[in-house]
Amino acid sequence: MKINYIFLIIGIAILTFTCSEDRVNPEFDPSPYLLELNGDLPEPAIPPDNLLTNAKVKLGRMLFYEKKLSKDLTQACADCHLQKDAFTDIRPFSIGVEKLEGKRNAMPIFNLVYHINGFFWDGRATLLRDQALKPIQDPLEMNETLSNAVAKIQNEKIYQDQFIRAFGSDSVSALKISLAIEQFMISIVSHDSKYDRYLKGAATLTLEEERGKDLFFKEYDPLNNIKGAECFHCHSGFNFTNNEFMNNGLDTDSNFKDLGRFNVTKNASDKASFKVPSLRNIEFTAPYMHDSRFNSIDEVIDHYNSHVKQSSTTNILLQNNIKGLNLTTQEKSDLKAFLKTLSDNTYLNNPEYKSPF
Ligand code: HEC
Ligand code: HEC
Repeated sequence: MKINYIFLIIGIAILTFTCSEDRVNPEFDPSPYLLELNGDLPEPAIPPDNLLTNAKVKLGRMLFYEKKLSKDLTQACADCHLQKDAFTDIRPFSIGVEKLEGKRNAMPIFNLVYHINGFFWDGRATLLRDQALKPIQDPLEMNETLSNAVAKIQNEKIYQDQFIRAFGSDSVSALKISLAIEQFMISIVSHDSKYDRYLKGAATLTLEEERGKDLFFKEYDPLNNIKGAECFHCHSGFNFTNNEFMNNGLDTDSNFKDLGRFNVTKNASDKASFKVPSLRNIEFTAPYMHDSRFNSIDEVIDHYNSHVKQSSTTNILLQNNIKGLNLTTQEKSDLKAFLKTLSDNTYLNNPEYKSPF
């Protein structure tokens, strides 16, 4: 009993000492942040000039949840990217600071270090750190100037301290803000879905999921009586995307509204092409497509089964879909069951991604 009390008192003393020490005199902390991938995902190519440290990831996390980065102090990145929705927004179009509606559906955040072909639906940001500064300045999003954002962060004691831990100096800059947010976003990973566990031999798929998996990874070949949904052509690899920009046949030419990738490259072949999204956690990211036109996975499957439109840029890999895949009701529900095996509750509930405030 006595011994326990002594330990308790020593414990409290150490705690008080370290806490106050931390507050009064923060120190540069270069300790590396370890991304735990358990061999499920390939070795990530972390930018060599922005190697992850615990202090920078933490700073990035604070900034991601920081409403002061917006003009009227009402909006943080996390207001349109909610962890419970796979860091996306269930509103078809996010509402920015001036109550203005954006033009596209917010995108999920996980495994971004593997996105080798740029960010946003049209890929207009090449590096994640460049991406991070755009929403702050976007008039439909946070609508703030970088110099104002820097000044507001510079004024806060908790940020002065955290910048010292992260960068060794309390001086705030837009570049440092972007590097820290890049680090936090890189730290957000998803690799513990039922399907990941199945691949490691640690889970079994139901018969329905198994049939859905076969459909997902097969080409439709009616001559040889082989059913297939053709999804794997584009939603391929461990992250269920080929990292390309493509037109998946949502509209005919006369109905193109958002020209997507074309706005960046000006190549006619990129008209109405959009980033092929990962299908991990797709169960949580409705509504679907860049313009949120589909509300459910069923509607998406119906699109690929029988509504893919021919246009000047519809991808050639969808030629069988254009003719129609003739999936039965059972096959559609099998495919949906497989897509739901890509849901990762570990990621969705990971305390390290929650608000630090
Ligand atoms: C008002 C809502 C809103 C806010 C605030 C917001 N975003 Fe977004 N985010 C979006 C939308 C909408 C898109 C897609 C835009 C597009 O493609 O043109 C997007 C796209 C992204 C992407 C691209 C993902 C990919 O796969 O290419 C990343 C990363 C991202 N946001 C991070 C952030 C960060 C970091 C912040 C804060 C600095 C932030 N967002 C603030 C709505 C928002
Ligand atoms: C030719 C390439 C291609 C094929 C094949 C393909 N997709 Fe897609 N998929 C895309 C592109 C590109 C988008 C984004 C389109 C947009 O938003 O305008 C997309 C979007 C989606 C989305 C919405 C994701 C989101 O976050 O909004 C889902 C779900 C989806 N596809 C599932 C499937 C399934 C299931 C199959 C097979 C039946 C399939 N896709 C076949 C290219 C493809």
